[in-house]
Amino acid sequence: MSLFRTKNLDHMVAQSKAAGGLKKVLGPLDLVLMGIGAIVGTGIFVLTGTGALTAGPALTLSFVVAALACGFAALCYAEFASTVPVAGSIYTYSYATLGELVAWMIGWDLMLEYGLATSAVSVGWSGYFQSLLGGFGIHLPAVLTAAPGAVPGVTTWFNLPALVIMLLLTAMLSWGVRESARLNSIMVAIKVAVVLLFIAVGAGHVKPVNWQPFMPFGMNGMMSAAALVFFAFIGFDAVTSAAEEVKRPERDLPIGIIGSLAVCTVLYVVVSAIMTGIVPFQQFAGVDHPVSLALQYAGQNWVAGFVDLGAILGMTTVILVMTYGQTRVIFAMSRDGLLPKRLSTLHPKYNTPFFATWTVGIVFGLIGAVVPLGVLAELINIGTLAAFCLVSVAVVVLRKKRPDLHRAFRCPGVPYVPALAVLFCLALMTFLSRTTWIAFGIWLVIGLVIYFGYSRRNAVLHTQQA
Ligand code: ALA
Repeated sequence: MSLFRTKNLDHMVAQSKAAGGLKKVLGPLDLVLMGIGAIVGTGIFVLTGTGALTAGPALTLSFVVAALACGFAALCYAEFASTVPVAGSIYTYSYATLGELVAWMIGWDLMLEYGLATSAVSVGWSGYFQSLLGGFGIHLPAVLTAAPGAVPGVTTWFNLPALVIMLLLTAMLSWGVRESARLNSIMVAIKVAVVLLFIAVGAGHVKPVNWQPFMPFGMNGMMSAAALVFFAFIGFDAVTSAAEEVKRPERDLPIGIIGSLAVCTVLYVVVSAIMTGIVPFQQFAGVDHPVSLALQYAGQNWVAGFVDLGAILGMTTVILVMTYGQTRVIFAMSRDGLLPKRLSTLHPKYNTPFFATWTVGIVFGLIGAVVPLGVLAELINIGTLAAFCLVSVAVVVLRKKRPDLHRAFRCPGVPYVPALAVLFCLALMTFLSRTTWIAFGIWLVIGLVIYFGYSRRNAVLHTQQA
């Protein structure tokens, strides 16, 4: 039965309010910006090219389907986040509802989402950065430009820019949240401005004939693209992992989650409609900068340059917020004894989980430096979709187990909305490849081995019961 032991919710809420915890410095606008910071990145700037090839102009619909899956899950997230404003996101919620084993597996699963996403986005960042440097005639030695085997026919050792950006952002996060949030706000503003610039300039160059046929690869193509561009929405849930550092979590967390998701959905649908309206979708084959390609196609080279710069900044904020989310999940798991204690010690001066932050930055920085983007991207979506399914189930379980709890935000239409979230996420998962499913299975098995080998015995709940 100990596998299903749960944490005491009331105790957890009290723990988050206790003195000596993380500093409460974030407001609603910080959270919406943090959400947009985590969301808009490689998905829209890099993956839309492959998405357009898979779905044709129906890519716009793919974004809508992916957004619906996220939207239903977001409502569940928001209820949880407003009820249990404790660091650690869905990991923490499930510890209080579904029990320790499930919580551990979710925390382990979140490492796929946040951790590998930072690695993947750092690789995307590196590509754009190198292309920008190339514009100034600067070229790195080929061996330092990519992971081994990432570029066919070229000998590469590791991706130096990907590692460097990870370490720089890790240093910033380890110095303090408020400072990082401020810089994040500036970069998010630039990123959104660049996307709006694309919309404003690109709209005039759309040729509606390019939207015909709208769905060249049928429903199958549209859904496969949805399973891929789902990646573009990953990140809104990172907002919830900041719960303990929010001034008024009951009100601000739902605003942060739903607000950032809504803004991004509108931007993505409009951008993908314009992109496929300017460029016949077949031309996106092999292109890793589809958004700026559309502008070049329209003869707007100078705007394309701005978009490249915005993409670099955009991906910077994604890495920043994802790394932040990852450290907070590890912080929470370590505080519960499921991971070594050292990972939840706060730095005496900066008051941040210093050791955890550097561990995350170095581990996932190295992964980004030596593993090709394609391999990384495969796993991220499946890990996230599985986590979304679980949070949706958990919201229903918590309603049954603790109807008395104060919920500042209530997910509408329970149990139908959580059921729709599960349905949409499972549907998207079925469009992911077999290899991805196998790799995901292996990841979960490794997680189980660690749980039974270490975490179960070291859990704070275990020590308390012994
Ligand atoms: N949603 C994030 C991105 O598109 C992960 O880069």
